[in-house]
Amino acid sequence: MALILAIESSCDETSAAVVRSGEELLSNVVYSQIATHAQYGGVVPELASREHLRAIVPVVREALAQAGQAFQTIDAIAVTQGPGLAGALLVGITYAKALAFALNKPLIAVNHLEGHIHAVLLEGRQSGSELRFPALALVVSGGHTHLYLVNSPQASSAAWRYTPVGHTLDDAAGEAFDKVAKLLGLGYPGGPIIEYLAQHGNSSSVKFAPAQIKLREKGIAPDPNARKNPRTRGGTLQQQQMPRFDFSFSGIKTAVLRYVQTHEMQSAIDARRRALAQIPKPAMEDYLTHCDPQTLDLIASFQRAVVDDLAGKTLAAAEEYGAQGLLVTGGVAANSRLRERSTERAERLGLSVHFPSRKLSTDNAAMIAAAAFPKFVAGEFSDPQFSAEASLALGG
Ligand code: KG4
Ligand code: ZN
Repeated sequence: MALILAIESSCDETSAAVVRSGEELLSNVVYSQIATHAQYGGVVPELASREHLRAIVPVVREALAQAGQAFQTIDAIAVTQGPGLAGALLVGITYAKALAFALNKPLIAVNHLEGHIHAVLLEGRQSGSELRFPALALVVSGGHTHLYLVNSPQASSAAWRYTPVGHTLDDAAGEAFDKVAKLLGLGYPGGPIIEYLAQHGNSSSVKFAPAQIKLREKGIAPDPNARKNPRTRGGTLQQQQMPRFDFSFSGIKTAVLRYVQTHEMQSAIDARRRALAQIPKPAMEDYLTHCDPQTLDLIASFQRAVVDDLAGKTLAAAEEYGAQGLLVTGGVAANSRLRERSTERAERLGLSVHFPSRKLSTDNAAMIAAAAFPKFVAGEFSDPQFSAEASLALGG
């Protein structure tokens, strides 16, 4: 039994949660800054830090109150160390350090990407659904598109192991949704708007060439022995022999822009942007009313290209690495087409497949508390000198 108070401030959500023993969610308060950033079509780092400063104290107090706890009854404080916006991370880290110092409680630094994976593990434990390992995890959000092979703790250790097997070489998938929504004169964040509008378009009408990612010369040897279930090789994955499954989404964004130019859609986009700016809080129907069939077809085709690429490479990696389960997590995991495509393909391969609920798909502190729990059990506490790491990597 351990009560962990976790704080998350890596991007544009200020969140605090109290979780008991890595699985019982007593509270999970999320203050979203979307309204602040929406008018800019993306997160403005300076505004994010300012908003975190404003929100952190009330959000933490609310998380404790909802959990029926006080600072004194908490066993440890966990906080996101990175990756994320340095100034935003520092707000959470500084506050967590001050709390840990004042209360004389242990402090646990958590990798945000590990947090996203633990959002699924937490809910899996809650529902009693069987998670099978090794699992292939796709962490896909506005800031990240990563593939990891996840191994559960072995008897001798409480540590989860993550082996990176792919990532985006340029834009994150969520970023591509946001940028395409912006260039078509729609709102922010783009993902949910594009998902809604895509239902009204023909996803086969615009053909986007799938991104051809060449295997990077360095670090990849097409060794046939590397293409085996890692467990049959004693579980020792050799990074230099591992085939990679990288993504690239900046090309498709440019292809959408080119389509807009060649089909002379710009004046309609400008008119749409102006009309939507007159509506204080546009609803999904407002976006739909202001889109012509050609735009809806373009949106549906864009979503299909991105989602099918994500699902296709994720499943190819799962097969390659002999994964037994599939985890899809992060903001873009809310996308229904991604859920359907990954589920269909995973079931065909006989893999168990898991997504977080929509509430735990996007950034939240409950996932940070869940990821901190095994570290708490192992007594892996952080040196109080640690700082924010904007590009913190996971595994390797
Ligand atoms: O995990 P998250 O809240 O924050 C980051 O760490 O980035 O993810 C937000 C991202 C945004 O890019 C948003 O457009 C995308 O997730 N997103 C979606 C959907 N809902 C949110 N993308 C596609 N379909 C959705 N339904
Ligand atoms: Zn995230």
